[in-house]
Amino acid sequence: MRNFIISIRGGRPLAGSVAVAGAKNAALPELAAVCLASEELELANVPQVEDIRVMVAALRALGAEGQGDGALREGLEGHAVRLAMPRLRTPLVAPEIARTTRASVLLLGPMLARCGEARVSTPGGCPIGERKIDFHLLGLERMGAEIRAEGEYLVARCRRLRGIDFTFPGKTVTGTENLLMAAALAEGTTVLRNCACEPEVGDLAALLAAMGADIEADGEETWVVRGRPALRGARHRVIPDRIEAGTYLIAGCFAGNDVRVEGVEPAHLGSLLEVLDGMGADVEAGGGAFHARGGRALRPAAVVTEPYPGFPTDLQAQLTTLLTQADGVSRVRETIFNDRFRHVAELNRLGAAIEVRGDEALVRGGTRLRGAVLRTTDLRASAALVLGGLAAAGETRIENAYQLFRGYEDMPAKLQALGAEIEILEE
Ligand code: EPU
Repeated sequence: MRNFIISIRGGRPLAGSVAVAGAKNAALPELAAVCLASEELELANVPQVEDIRVMVAALRALGAEGQGDGALREGLEGHAVRLAMPRLRTPLVAPEIARTTRASVLLLGPMLARCGEARVSTPGGCPIGERKIDFHLLGLERMGAEIRAEGEYLVARCRRLRGIDFTFPGKTVTGTENLLMAAALAEGTTVLRNCACEPEVGDLAALLAAMGADIEADGEETWVVRGRPALRGARHRVIPDRIEAGTYLIAGCFAGNDVRVEGVEPAHLGSLLEVLDGMGADVEAGGGAFHARGGRALRPAAVVTEPYPGFPTDLQAQLTTLLTQADGVSRVRETIFNDRFRHVAELNRLGAAIEVRGDEALVRGGTRLRGAVLRTTDLRASAALVLGGLAAAGETRIENAYQLFRGYEDMPAKLQALGAEIEILEE
């Protein structure tokens, strides 16, 4: 696998507009939904990022046909993907694929529902702590699947899945998505309670409805799905990526910057807007855009990551970088993943003063950042280090930067257009 170093000469002001791509974490389950029907799905606004390419490759290996991976690689105009799965050629998701993106687990429910069999290598993805899938498996077993581990594979079999009344023991985004897709083709009615409420879940539900699924929300956290014998093809536009939008919004709040973030859904970022407002940042939302100006002194914040609509764990690292520039001590508590502070040691190399105590990071603000050589371990940490490098004086090099491209479309080019001095070098 090719890897990259990102080199940044920091201290240049960022100014101008940046457009947000479609949401990676909505497009991933929506691509998995290709398995549910023999007709074509046409998805618009699919981001051109590595995790999506890997998912499209996995679908190809399963038998999907149409425009997808090749077109994506060549930079398809309009970010459209058209794929159909006339039949599942083999119910196998290979280790090379599952190791790269954890989203491969999203194929389990759809494959079982479509053909009664799935062999999925145990998923990988970002090293950000324990990432269990026991709730996915529990739900599928309750629907009638027999699941066992065979080497590095999970092997699942069933006759037709049957509807259940299931309460998730804890909130899980991909778990909710997996069971919604399985339920769409199950026999009878499924009621899923204590579901994750992330906008990406709602977007998947909208796609399933367009495919002919009988799916309806009952309040915020419950879905009722009456299973259908088959689903049909559909067209759907992926929602904007709220995490990418939040990352550029945070970038705009650093001193000297003036950034408009276009094509956003402000309602999806209420928790971030509230935190930035509490910090005294100069931020406006309206007309499908954010405007951030980094002129004002920033106050420290106390932030706790929570399931939606709480503060997203996927913006925790990026906000932590901004908090190094606030006047005073901030507290950042991570409650979703148990090992998601790996960016802290790297930010400290830049001169930040952050101490991790258990599930909390104490950020002493007002530190002057200076360029350094850093190594990133996961996608969102990479974005946090890029923000650090932009704010630091001198050159910052970020190794293992492949991680960034798993989930941010063209970030170096977008930042260059804002005036950043940033380049990609082969590692
Ligand atoms: N959990 C369990 N059992 C399960 C499932 C989850 O104990 O069966 C625990 C996990 O160990 C974790 C917590 O519940 O501590 C939340 O996990 P969740 O299942 O919600 O996370 P996920 O579905 O694996 C998605 C996103 C992540 C994002 C999280 C939380 C996708 C493809 N990934 O992961 O995105 O951080 O929800 O919002 O949708 C990213 O984009 O950088 C990223 C990591």
